[in-house]
Parts: sequence; C-alpha cells; structure tokens
Amino acid sequence: MTADMDPVKLMKQEVGRAAAAKVQSTSVVGLGTGSTTAFAIQFLGERLKTGDLTDIKGVPTSFQASVLAKQHGIPLTTLDEIDHIDIAIDGADEVDPQQNLIKGGGAAHTREKVVDSLAKQFIVVVDSSKLVDKLGTTFPLPVEVLPMAIAPVTQALIKLGGTPELRMGIKKDGPVITDQGNMVLDVKFTAIDDPAALEKIINNIPGVLENGLFVGVATEVLIGEVKNGKATVRTL
Ligand code: A5P
Repeated sequence: MTADMDPVKLMKQEVGRAAAAKVQSTSVVGLGTGSTTAFAIQFLGERLKTGDLTDIKGVPTSFQASVLAKQHGIPLTTLDEIDHIDIAIDGADEVDPQQNLIKGGGAAHTREKVVDSLAKQFIVVVDSSKLVDKLGTTFPLPVEVLPMAIAPVTQALIKLGGTPELRMGIKKDGPVITDQGNMVLDVKFTAIDDPAALEKIINNIPGVLENGLFVGVATEVLIGEVKNGKATVRTL
C-alpha cells in the first residue's frame, strides 16, 4: 500500500503512521476499520518487521481489519483471551469539538464500539475533512438493525425526526449485510443537538443492535492536514 500525491490519501497515511508510532511493545491493540486505520495497521506491521515493536496482539473490529492484520503480520487475539485493551486506533466519519464521533461508514461500528470502548487509550485517526461543529451535519447516522425489525425500526427513527435509508450494496444487489448478518439504516438528521441522549434513545428501540454515535469514548483525536503541499498531523 503506497500513498500517491492525492492529498486526502497523504493525510490518512501520515495520521495512520503517527497513531502506529504511539503503540508500545507488549500492548494489546484494538484494530479499527476503514481506509485511515488501514495505514495504521500497515505501519504497525512495518514496526514489527524491523523489530522496533515486539510482542503485540491485535483485536480486530471487522473481517476487513482481521484480513489486513494477517497480511501485515500482526498476531491476533479475541476478547475471550485477554482481559484488557491498552490502545485502540480507529477512524471516524465525523468528529465534533468535544471529541464525540459518528462512525459506521464501513458498517463496522457495532464491533468497533465494543473494542474502542474497552481500550484504555482510544486514538481516533481522521483527515481534516471529518471535523464538524455539530454531529449529523455532513454524514448520516448508521444504525445496525436485525433484518426482521427493519420496518418498525424505520418507523421509530422517522418519529425521532430522522430520514432513514437502507444501505445498499455496491457490486452486490440488495442491502449491505454486516459482519454479524444484519442490515444498516443510514439516518439523516438535520443536526444532532444532544448526541449522548440520541445514542441511548436509538439503542433502546427493539431490533437496534448499535448506532454509530460514540460519545465520550475517544481519548485523543489525531488530525491529518496538508499545508503547502506537506502533510502534517495535529491533535484536536
Ligand atoms: C467503519 O465502519 C467506520 O466506522 C470507519 O472507521 C469510518 O467510516 C472511517 O473510515 P475511513 O477512515 O475510511 O474514512
């Protein structure tokens, strides 16, 4: 995997590298999902190969993360085999000034929330396009739903003021099916005034597995930016 001169790719690469540099030997590492975390996984693999990093174990948040980790030589473990996660690295679709997030653009937010919430340190890796003043303004909120409950959950989300749309596959007819065998509703809200309340209300609808609001979970947000053609990384 190499980054060409596409500035967004360059930002993702540098922020992924910066996050991977924070991981210490013997750590249990939550491995997030998405194109930004993919760079972090790549750089973790490179550090293992050079011997700069030793004896880490990865907890993948998706099938994609586990495939990438294997490809880059990162040993994997499961939540049954460990009793803590030292650090998790994961991307986001939106980040607000309080470090609250919308995640789930890759339909992996249910497992991501389990792993990222358990981590002592959860590092979010984003390019600067993901920063928003208020969640929900640029990205719909992903909600994972049991297939048999799609109709009532859709109605409940409309009653909450949202506009839900069933996420459809690309190069596959029909809906996206998550790693758990469920479906995803992408719910457009004009803006989300109280993310903590909405997260709980949506998760309380019978048939909802998890929504993509991550409130108070992130401990640090690393932002990739390009200035004068050069990629830099700053902390929110
Ligand atoms: C996966 O479901 C998501 O939560 C991703 O972490 C999020 O969409 C960010 O992905 P990118 O790094 O590809 O933008």
